[in-house]
Amino acid sequence: MAWITKNSGTMQIETREEPYLDDELKAEIEANIIPRYPDRRAATLPTLHAVQHKVGWLPTQALKEIADFLGSAPSEVMDTATFYEEYWLKPKGKYVIWLCQSISCELMGRDTIMSKIKAKLNIEPGETTEDGKFTLMNVECLGSCGTAPCGLVNEKLHENMTVDNIDQILDSLE
Ligand code: FES
Repeated sequence: MAWITKNSGTMQIETREEPYLDDELKAEIEANIIPRYPDRRAATLPTLHAVQHKVGWLPTQALKEIADFLGSAPSEVMDTATFYEEYWLKPKGKYVIWLCQSISCELMGRDTIMSKIKAKLNIEPGETTEDGKFTLMNVECLGSCGTAPCGLVNEKLHENMTVDNIDQILDSLE
């Protein structure tokens, strides 16, 4: 196996003039997050969450702003953001479909449902439709194994999913 490397040192960062970490968000983080940690760098995870919550994802410019704000190296913030699956480093769709891939859901037919979603939306897990409407993701056990197969659409849990009702679920969002 070979590591896939990326030339982060010379890559072009898309920037905009208006900061993602604006004064209002900085003040909110200073008041509500920073005091809970022994030093500013220790607040990296919740700060990433706060920015992602506001922006919807974490553009590279935002990671650099977070590094400046916390007194960290940009590479440290980038390392942290790329390590955890909860952080979005590219824009996600309006609706994120999470389909459970753990054992109960797998035994109850999640693969057939996944195939149906992929064919209907023409995307693979980890991708977003061209219109920005749907992102498809695999996820581990959602804690609802008794009603497998299960999935989430954004925060809403769908149980006992079938090839037919996934059609209805997707159509209701279109
Ligand atoms: S295995 Fe899918 S919800 Fe537990």
